[in-house]
Amino acid sequence: MCGIVAYIGKKEAFPIVLKGLKRLEYRGYDSAGVALLSAGELSVYKRAGKVSNLEDFATQHNISGHAGIGHTRWATHGLPNDTNAHPHVSMDGSIALIHNGIIENYDSLRKELISEGYVFKSETDTEVLVHLVDNISKKENVWFGEALRIALHHVVGAYAIVAISKNYPNRLVAARKSSPLVLGIGTDGDFYLASDATPIVEYTKQVVYMEDEEIAVIDLEEGLKLYNIGDQQKTPYIQQLELELEALEKGGYEHFMLKEIYEQPRSILDCFRGRLNTDEGWVSLRGIREYEDKMIQANRLIIVACGTSWHAGLVGEYLIEDLARINVEVEYASEFRYRNPIIHENDVVIAISQSGETADTLAALELAKSKGATILGICNVVGSSISRITDAGSYTHAGPEIGVASTKAFTGQVTILTLLALTLAHKKGTITTSVLHTMLAELEAIPNKVKRVLETNAHIEKIANTYKDATNALYLGRGSSFPVALEGALKLKEISYIHAEGYPAAEMKHGPIALIDENMPIFVIATQGNSYEKVVSNIQEVKARKGKIIAIVTEGDVHVRELADEVIEIPETNEYLVPLLATVPFQLLSYHIAVMRGCNVDQPRNLAKSVTVE
Ligand code: G6P
Repeated sequence: MCGIVAYIGKKEAFPIVLKGLKRLEYRGYDSAGVALLSAGELSVYKRAGKVSNLEDFATQHNISGHAGIGHTRWATHGLPNDTNAHPHVSMDGSIALIHNGIIENYDSLRKELISEGYVFKSETDTEVLVHLVDNISKKENVWFGEALRIALHHVVGAYAIVAISKNYPNRLVAARKSSPLVLGIGTDGDFYLASDATPIVEYTKQVVYMEDEEIAVIDLEEGLKLYNIGDQQKTPYIQQLELELEALEKGGYEHFMLKEIYEQPRSILDCFRGRLNTDEGWVSLRGIREYEDKMIQANRLIIVACGTSWHAGLVGEYLIEDLARINVEVEYASEFRYRNPIIHENDVVIAISQSGETADTLAALELAKSKGATILGICNVVGSSISRITDAGSYTHAGPEIGVASTKAFTGQVTILTLLALTLAHKKGTITTSVLHTMLAELEAIPNKVKRVLETNAHIEKIANTYKDATNALYLGRGSSFPVALEGALKLKEISYIHAEGYPAAEMKHGPIALIDENMPIFVIATQGNSYEKVVSNIQEVKARKGKIIAIVTEGDVHVRELADEVIEIPETNEYLVPLLATVPFQLLSYHIAVMRGCNVDQPRNLAKSVTVE
């Protein structure tokens, strides 16, 4: 979390940095700050709260500069106030630095620096970096870039860092380890740096994704030079960005989240486009084709993920086990990495991550790799860290997801997992060609069916209005609809701050049933399929306790309609594909409730989209 952005060149740096910070605000919005170099002077402006607070404050001042660094913070060490905001500045005011990540040994470094006379203003781990660089630069009589390189040998933790100094007005220095950093090469001899490509794409499509323990030295006269922290020069690998600027705008919608919910017919289509052919009866994820046999013969597939991506993993478990009869385990990446898991060389570990940057997921993969497992990735962000460290992978092609609460990325992940399950099942012979044909035809029909679900928006908005003041909610589902219930509850919690729990419908009677009274909304996925009758029984149990039932049913259902207080119909589909449709009403419901409660839908409190700290 935390977003960093920097510019050096002939243009005014402040508007570029500010706009970049707005694009990166999904990464944290506890405070924002900039440092600018102009005529040999270094000016720093920082404010608690959102980037707009910084903008209001900064526009009252006459800000200019040809080089600037900016930061939007998700607080880890220290309160979200002005002082703890980045950039942090050396005591003599010459060096300013921004950082995304965590310096784990900051306490011992801080004590050492204090003993040498350094005075700390903030409670952050980052401030040690700037004093350390200053200290090394003075003691060893080296310029600040070299001092940063030496300093990094003393640092334990994760970082993406950009630093500037008024003594070297033509230079920017950047370094990364475990936190993302993208470098943009402008057309005008100028350079950009940012946590992801979104602040850069407007100016250039030529980018370099920095690797771990690389240092970039940008000099307006000498250009870009890349080194490892051992000081050996490297050749930058320049890539062409495929991102389009329009994908980063709201496109007429009031919120990014709503836009992203409505994009799902297209994003699901983009996800399976070219990966299946119903007439010819084939399905293939080209990126991982050479690992199909490995997966079929694997001891087990271990899916590691966090948050919404973990829910997608659970849907994947149902699909792959049921269709392909391959053992699948789904793990919270944060738990997996710290519990000394047993990993064999014939295990295949699949990471699911929208951002491709989640620190725990990345670390879980690194652990699995160190034990000899094959590691694969399902990511949305092209060029992200996970997509680069995995042996192979598949992109979801959902396009940039900016709303902090994940929507289209989830349905993209479930689509990939469906394609994967079908690929493995067909190759292994656990489904017939005719079942494959039927499933592929159904999958191809999903985008239009999602469109039909979206047409029920007005009805869902009315339901939202009825339940917007609830303080608790329960989401129930069985089979692959259980993860949908978990995801529905998470969406409500994340953006409307209503306490909600997802439960397997039958498990309700082992606890949550005690919570049910006439004020409690219970959202149930009760679509046609194997467990329909069982879910109906669970609905009866809720009704007997006077709970309010809002049920997602298959179009034309009459039975549940008689029992429920409200029903939301979704088109009939193959049972395996229900998660792709049933998720959508829950997304809309949470969205409307959050709007009605006056919550910040796209940037819910305390959350960040890309969690690059443990
Ligand atoms: C954060 C986001 C969630 C997301 C989770 C995992 O908590 O707010 O929306 O599901 O991280 O992120 P990833 O990028 O790995 O899917």
